[in-house]
Amino acid sequence: RPARFTLDPAFTVGTVDPRLFGSFVEHLGRCVYTGIYEPGHPTADAAGLREDVLDLVRELGATTIRYPGGNFVSGCKWEDSVGPVDERPRRLDLAWRSTETNRFGLSEYIAFLRRLGPQAEPMMAVNLGTRGVAEALELQEYANHPAGTELSDRRIAHGDKEPFGIRLWCLGNEMDGPWQTGHKTAEEYGRLAAETARAMRQIDPDLELVACGSSGRAMETFAAWEATVLTETYDLVDHISLHAYYEEIDGDRDSFLASAVDMETFIEAVVATCDHIGARLKSPKRINLSFDEWNVWYQRRTAEEATAAPLDWPEAPRLLEDSYSVTDAVVFGSLMIALLRHADRVTVACLAQLVNVIAPIMTEPGGPAWRQTTFFPFAQAARYGRGQVLDVRVDSPTYGTKTYGEVPLLHATAVRGEDGTVTVFAVNRSQTEPLPLDVALHGLDLSEVVEHSALSDEDPEARNTLTDPERVAPHPVTATRLEDGVLNTVLEPLSWNVIRLA
Ligand code: AHR
Repeated sequence: RPARFTLDPAFTVGTVDPRLFGSFVEHLGRCVYTGIYEPGHPTADAAGLREDVLDLVRELGATTIRYPGGNFVSGCKWEDSVGPVDERPRRLDLAWRSTETNRFGLSEYIAFLRRLGPQAEPMMAVNLGTRGVAEALELQEYANHPAGTELSDRRIAHGDKEPFGIRLWCLGNEMDGPWQTGHKTAEEYGRLAAETARAMRQIDPDLELVACGSSGRAMETFAAWEATVLTETYDLVDHISLHAYYEEIDGDRDSFLASAVDMETFIEAVVATCDHIGARLKSPKRINLSFDEWNVWYQRRTAEEATAAPLDWPEAPRLLEDSYSVTDAVVFGSLMIALLRHADRVTVACLAQLVNVIAPIMTEPGGPAWRQTTFFPFAQAARYGRGQVLDVRVDSPTYGTKTYGEVPLLHATAVRGEDGTVTVFAVNRSQTEPLPLDVALHGLDLSEVVEHSALSDEDPEARNTLTDPERVAPHPVTATRLEDGVLNTVLEPLSWNVIRLA
């Protein structure tokens, strides 16, 4: 039987915040060095930024870019990363057992965002691992104060007359994780985050602040961590963070294809925890979610690589350079759908990461840049997923999974633009069977299928590589019809679909 749902303009989830299409640049492996920044590369601009990468990031449509970590931030000193490049110190980066040269830093990050264009917004993390309130304030003053103090004048002397205007700040990173430099208990972190937030707001009450939630739903402290941290910070922060990575484990592809079930459960559990604390505090305020690290990541492979060859403090080593298949892109698209389906509460999200490190864009030092398979679902969602998310309640055949039990074969959402056009995003999780789909649209004034684009392949392992960078790309589906207020189509097996209606 076909999968079905009904779209009605009266039933909406919420408006998509453009920050849902954020990404993440960490000082990790080759994300920065030979990724976005490579002086001497044939396409590098005068500042050393790779123009080929800038073009791809614009095409990707990434908005908010989180920086500089990640685990890196919990050991870094922001002041190492500013001032004359030749005077910047080389430091050990404990998080990734690498040497940080600091040739790229705060000013270069802001220059990168400015080159991307007006859609790009900074999201800066402060170090609450080895540092605290004072250093966060100093960074804020250096970055944002116009002039007339030692730190703001130092920025001007460094060549940045205009303040950076950073509004969105992360209060540390994954402070619940024992791997984090300066890891803390929920009580310790909650107090530190509250005092940092209070002080930062003394400089600027209009900042938007993100408190660290759990680094995964599987953490033993999950939910209790959020409750304790929010009890301390509820009136002082705007968002709580979530991080999640998914991979195929032991060949169980059916469960991997249902990863978004976990992501949606995670989001709903964090929303419930936020609202529970709000209720206990009798607060009218609502805390939103910053899903500021999400992706497919073969973490087991990364762990094996690290054990096989312990790093001896190299500069910009090849780390976490996952190559993504068509299957990975379909799961990735489903994760995008999960975020959109919760656009009422998930108001910031960052694809981790942007270049080379578990990334949609890959580069070769001195060589080309190319799009991974995951590039396409992100770029299409960032382009067409703007407006009101419509409430999609799917009636779909199901399939059995080891991890999640019976799961609908169809995963879908729909977004209505300001001009009344509608885009349906849909994934068919079946590895073998096409999935017929009927969508009733009677309440919407739509008469035409503008485009149906699908990402699928006879070879679910197909991927784009240095030697074959255009092997995988979305293709058009021509048999999709819209007649008498009903959309009819067939979703190819294991496919990500974008259906644009006008
Ligand atoms: O994105 C890679 C790493 O994953 C980040 O540094 C850390 O925050 C998370 O564990």
